[in-house]
Amino acid sequence: MLLSWLTGLGAGIVFLHFVQKLLFPYFWDDFWFLLKVVRHGIRLEMYKQRGELVTVLDKFLSRVQRRPQKPFIIYEGDIYTYQDVDKTSSRVAHVFLNHSSLKKGDTVALLMSNEPDFVHVWFGLAKLGCVVAFLNSNIRSNSLLNCIRTCGPAALVVGADLLETIEEILPSLPKDINVWGMKDSVPQGIISLKEKLSTSSEEPVPRRHHVVSSLKSTWLYIFTSGTTGLPKAAVISQLQALRGSAGLWAFGCTADDIIYITLPLYHSSGSLLGIAGCIELGATCVLKKKFSASQFWSDCKKYNVTVFQYIGELCRYLCKQPKREGEKDHRVRLAVGNGIRSDVWRQFLDRFGNIKMCELYGATEANISFMNHTGKIGAVGRTNFFYKLFFTFDLIKYNFQKDEPMRNKQNWCSHVKKGEPGLLISRVHAKNPFFGYAGSYKHTKNKLLFDVFKKGDIYFNTGDLMVQDQENFLYFWDRIGDTFRWKGENVATTEVADVIGMLDFIQETNVYGVAVSGYEGKAGMASIILKPNKSLDLEKVYEQIVTSLPVYAYPRFLRIQEKMETTGTFKLLKYQLVEEGFNPLKISDPLYFMDNLKKSYVPLTKELYDQIMLGEIKF
Ligand SMILES: *[C@@H]1O[C@H](CO)[C@@H](O)[C@H](O)[C@H]1NC(C)=O
Ligand SMILES: *[C@@H]1O[C@H](CO)[C@@H](O)[C@H](O)[C@H]1NC(C)=O
Ligand SMILES: *[C@@H]1O[C@H](CO)[C@@H](O)[C@H](O)[C@H]1NC(C)=O
Repeated sequence: MLLSWLTGLGAGIVFLHFVQKLLFPYFWDDFWFLLKVVRHGIRLEMYKQRGELVTVLDKFLSRVQRRPQKPFIIYEGDIYTYQDVDKTSSRVAHVFLNHSSLKKGDTVALLMSNEPDFVHVWFGLAKLGCVVAFLNSNIRSNSLLNCIRTCGPAALVVGADLLETIEEILPSLPKDINVWGMKDSVPQGIISLKEKLSTSSEEPVPRRHHVVSSLKSTWLYIFTSGTTGLPKAAVISQLQALRGSAGLWAFGCTADDIIYITLPLYHSSGSLLGIAGCIELGATCVLKKKFSASQFWSDCKKYNVTVFQYIGELCRYLCKQPKREGEKDHRVRLAVGNGIRSDVWRQFLDRFGNIKMCELYGATEANISFMNHTGKIGAVGRTNFFYKLFFTFDLIKYNFQKDEPMRNKQNWCSHVKKGEPGLLISRVHAKNPFFGYAGSYKHTKNKLLFDVFKKGDIYFNTGDLMVQDQENFLYFWDRIGDTFRWKGENVATTEVADVIGMLDFIQETNVYGVAVSGYEGKAGMASIILKPNKSLDLEKVYEQIVTSLPVYAYPRFLRIQEKMETTGTFKLLKYQLVEEGFNPLKISDPLYFMDNLKKSYVPLTKELYDQIMLGEIKF
C-alpha cells in the first residue's frame, strides 16, 4: 500500500511542496522522521510481497539466533539473555502442550506484575499461537471477574504475588478456566506452573504452532477503558504490535541502548513500545517491578541506562525528589512517553540535563499515533502534509454541555479552527481497519461515530480533545466521556459508580474527574443522591471503595446532591459538575474528602481545601 502511495503521488506536487516547506524551520525534522516511517512501511510491505509474515515473535527468534548471549532483560540485578528468555518461554509452551488442551487461537489471560516471567509466559503462549490477554494487576473482585469474562479465556496464568487476588474470586470463575500459578505451592484449585516448568523441555517449539496466515490476526488483548463503560479488551493484531514495536526505533534508539521500563507491562506502552520495541532493536531493557522515584537515578547509573519510558506523573515525582549531587551525571539521552506538562518538562531538563523528551500519543486500539519528533515543549506531535497521507485524522467541534460531537442543522460534524480544541477522530475503512474489542459488538460500536461528514462514513472516536496550533503542533487538551486519567491509568466512571451504587443508602451516583492544581490528569469525584429517608454512612462508602476498586480509581471527593441533571437521553450531565470542581466556597452542597488515616470521608472544609490547593496534601 505504501509503495503505491509513493509511486502514485504526483512528483510535481511533491517537489512544489518541498520547496515551500523548505522555508519552514521544522522541515528537516519532519523529513527525516517521515523518511523513517516510510522506510518501516516499505520494509513491512516487502515482507508482505515476499509472502513472508514476520511477527514480533519471529523477530525475537531471529534475535536469539543472531546474538543468543546478548542480555535482553535485567531484573533485580539478574541478567536474562535473549537465549535464556527463549528457553524459558519454550518450557512454558511445552508445559501447556503436555498438560493442557490449549490449542492455537485459544485465549489465555495473564495476571502478573512486571517480572521476567511475564515475558516468559507471554512468549511461551505466543509460541503456541495463543492469544494472550493482559490483565491489569491492580484490579480485583468484580472488576477482575468482568475483565476475565469479557475475553473468554481457556486458562488463566497468575504471578506468585497475585495468587491471593485470584483466590478471592476463584469460586466465581467459570468452571472451564484452568488457573495456573507461578509458585511451587499453590492454593487448592490452582495448578502449579512453576513446578511443571522445572521438568519441562526447553527444545524449540515447532513453527507450525505459531505461524500466522495474516498480520491482521489477533495477537493480544490489552484492556483499555474507551470513552464508555467498563474496561474493554482491545484487540491487538500482529500488525499493530509490529507498529508499536517500531516506536523506539523511530525515535532513534539503537541496539546499544539500555532501556529502563518501570511502566506496567499490561499496558501497551510497557509491553509493545517497551519490550517489543527492545526486540525490534535487539537492545537490553532494565525491568522494574514498580517505579521508584528514590531509586530511579541510582538504577540509571548502575545499569548505564540510556533511554527511559515515562508518563507525566513519573517526571513530576522525579522533580519533587530532594536535590542531590551530580544529578546530571548519567547517560540517559532520551525519554519516550506521554502526558508531561510543559512546566514539569522545563524543570526536568533544567535539573537533569539535556535529555530528549519524546512525547507520544497513541490510542491502544486506534489506528492513530503522534510523536514529538521535533521536541517542541508541550506538544505531543506535529502533523504536516506528508504525515496526513499516512495517518488520517480529523479534529471536530465538540459540544461540552451535551457531551457529544457538535452537529449542524444538516446533522453533520465540522472541523475546528486552528487553536481550538476538537475531538480527535480517525476514519475507519478497509485500508485503515478498526479491530474492535473482544466480547460484544456493542462495545465496538460505542467507539464509532457514524455519518460524520457524509452519509455512510465511519470514524473511530478517540475520546481525546486536541488542539492544533498555527505551526501544526498538536497538544493534548482533555479527555471526554465516561473516563478520565489519573496516575497513568484510565478510570471508567461507570465502574466506580456501580461500586458505590451497591450501597443500600445510595440512589444515584455520577462519577467524574476534577482537575487538582499541580497534578496531571484528574482526581476522582462522585456526586451522590441518597435514597429517601436514608442517611449517609461515610465509613461504609470508604470501605466499599477501598475493597472493590484499585487505588487510582478511588473518588477523592464526594458531593451530596438533591437531584441530578440529565440529558434528553437520560445521560447524566457531567460538564457542569466538572467545571464546579470541589471548591467549598462555591458549592453549597455538602462536600467530603477521602481521609485514609480516619478510614472514612471527612467534611471538606475551607482549610482542607486551601491545603489541597497549596499542594500540602498528597494524593
Ligand atoms: C557501564 O559503563 C562503564 C563504562 O563504560 C562500565 O565500566 C560498566 O561496566 C558498565 N556497567 C554495566 C552494568 O554495564
Ligand atoms: C492504518 O492501517 C493501515 C492498514 O492496516 C495502514 O496502512 C495505515 O498506515 C494505518 N494508519 C495508521 C494511522 O496507523
Ligand atoms: C420518609 O419519612 C417521612 C416522615 O418520617 C414519611 O412521611 C415518608 O413517607 C417517608 N418516605 C419514604 C419514602 O419512606
